[in-house]
Amino acid sequence: MQPILDLDVLDPVSSAPDARGADRPRALAARVASGPSNGRSVFIETYGCQMNVADSELVASILGAQGWALADDEDTADVVLINTCAIREKAEDRVRRRLVHLRARKERRQPDLQIGVLGCMAERLRSRLLEQERLVDLVVGPDAYRDLPRLLAENHDTGQAAVNVQLSREETYADLAPVRTDTNGISAFVSIMRGCDNMCAFCVVPFTRGRERSRPVTSILSEVGQLVDAGYKEVTVLGQNVNSYRVEHDGAAVTFAELLYRISLLSPELRIRYSTSHPKDCSDELLHVHRERPTVCDFIHLPVQHGSSDVLKRMRRTYTREHYLDLVERARAIVPGIAFSTDLIAGFCGETDAEHAQTLSLMEAVRYDHAFMFAYSERPDTFAARKLSDDVPEAVKKERLTEIVDLQREHSAASHRQRVGGHEVVLVEGASRRSDDQLRGRTDTNHMVVFDRPAGLAAGDYAVVRVDDCTSATLLGSFVRPTTLAAVSPLAGGVRQRDGGSGSAA
Ligand code: SAH
Ligand code: SF4
Ligand code: F3S
Repeated sequence: MQPILDLDVLDPVSSAPDARGADRPRALAARVASGPSNGRSVFIETYGCQMNVADSELVASILGAQGWALADDEDTADVVLINTCAIREKAEDRVRRRLVHLRARKERRQPDLQIGVLGCMAERLRSRLLEQERLVDLVVGPDAYRDLPRLLAENHDTGQAAVNVQLSREETYADLAPVRTDTNGISAFVSIMRGCDNMCAFCVVPFTRGRERSRPVTSILSEVGQLVDAGYKEVTVLGQNVNSYRVEHDGAAVTFAELLYRISLLSPELRIRYSTSHPKDCSDELLHVHRERPTVCDFIHLPVQHGSSDVLKRMRRTYTREHYLDLVERARAIVPGIAFSTDLIAGFCGETDAEHAQTLSLMEAVRYDHAFMFAYSERPDTFAARKLSDDVPEAVKKERLTEIVDLQREHSAASHRQRVGGHEVVLVEGASRRSDDQLRGRTDTNHMVVFDRPAGLAAGDYAVVRVDDCTSATLLGSFVRPTTLAAVSPLAGGVRQRDGGSGSAA
């Protein structure tokens, strides 16, 4: 989970909990092609949410099979693909600046460079990027990545712009093995559904990602099984509305809760997280899976968006403040110690001071461990853009956002302070950012912990760590002993994935 810093909170591209930092573009590291080399290379840069990161890994796999190598950087690449986000205007502005830069480079010194736009901006703007702005050679929407090799060849051979922004009701890329280039070999993303049918009034995603569809169970289980065999210790299963996952399998419905349960049977040492869940689909069945399966982490990213039932109605979120608070209470009763993060929007259409105050009071009632907070940004074609008025002045949006951010900072700090003196089971992710002498990892509840590196402990190991101190973003601890998840399962006593193995740790 990323720290709550001004940049991350006020100006993020992605909302989803993401240890890598939401605001920066991510480049896939260099890799040799999996098919016979075609002598050409591609540089892929990713903006936006975790689904885009996972999609870039699919694109790398599709191109790798056709002999493409992944380039280290744009300087050495024959093709640059930018996988884009359209969620807020700022996210698009950033990509547009990047495209202008690449276009200038092509014109000045690299006339053969092919520039492609993938993802949500490709879907939203379609041929506008080609025809009006003449920025790119290729526009490919999120359901058309299998067509990329053909489109690249066509553009290369003819010099004509190539476009495929067809959305699909079926495509889940179920048969493709992503090239895991964006991971540390310990945590991986696994996409299990695509698209969104919810049509929240503010949101562009249903337009850019198309209709909701779930990936077959067997292909998900087989991908996770391969990750376990390859030594991975954590998967985050992904979907725009991940907990509405549902497929028919062997004549029976498999729900998201059932899917998680089945994934959890694959290994006692694989932590399971998911993102992003919608409150309407957070069933008791799912909460019981959290309770009963020790590897399903006690953490839910459960975006509320707003604290006022009237605003939630205008947002078309399909639940009220009371429903949401009941849900949080029920989750805490079923899964003691469960942690929550959320997304919040300040300054939605018609938001009054009193309605804004309800967001603050909901935050007080829930006390989130983390939050991603945004000023409302009107998106073309959405229900809000067509039917409501974006009438909260920018300065007021900013003021309200600042109040939300300040309150969340207090809550995040308090949630850290509460953990000081306790013990946590940490999955080691690698050296801390500051020093090689320290290790970094996350708790079951998704809190980052940094502690002095003991001899013999490596990335991918679990450790019991005593929490001695904290900053607003990180827990600071001391190593107690190595452990396994099986050793600290609730069946072994006490608090889940805390130091339950031997009662209290010494
Ligand atoms: N599928 C996820 C969210 C995807 S978008 C979900 O339903 O929770 C991530 C977050 O961006 C949203 O939760 C929302 O808080 C924010 N967001 C979406 N559209 C926005 C807009 N037009 N302006 C500001 N924030 C927005
Ligand atoms: Fe957007 Fe709502 Fe779908 Fe999330 S659930 S992707 S906010 S429409
Ligand atoms: Fe952005 Fe598309 Fe994800 S709009 S948040 S990249 S689904």
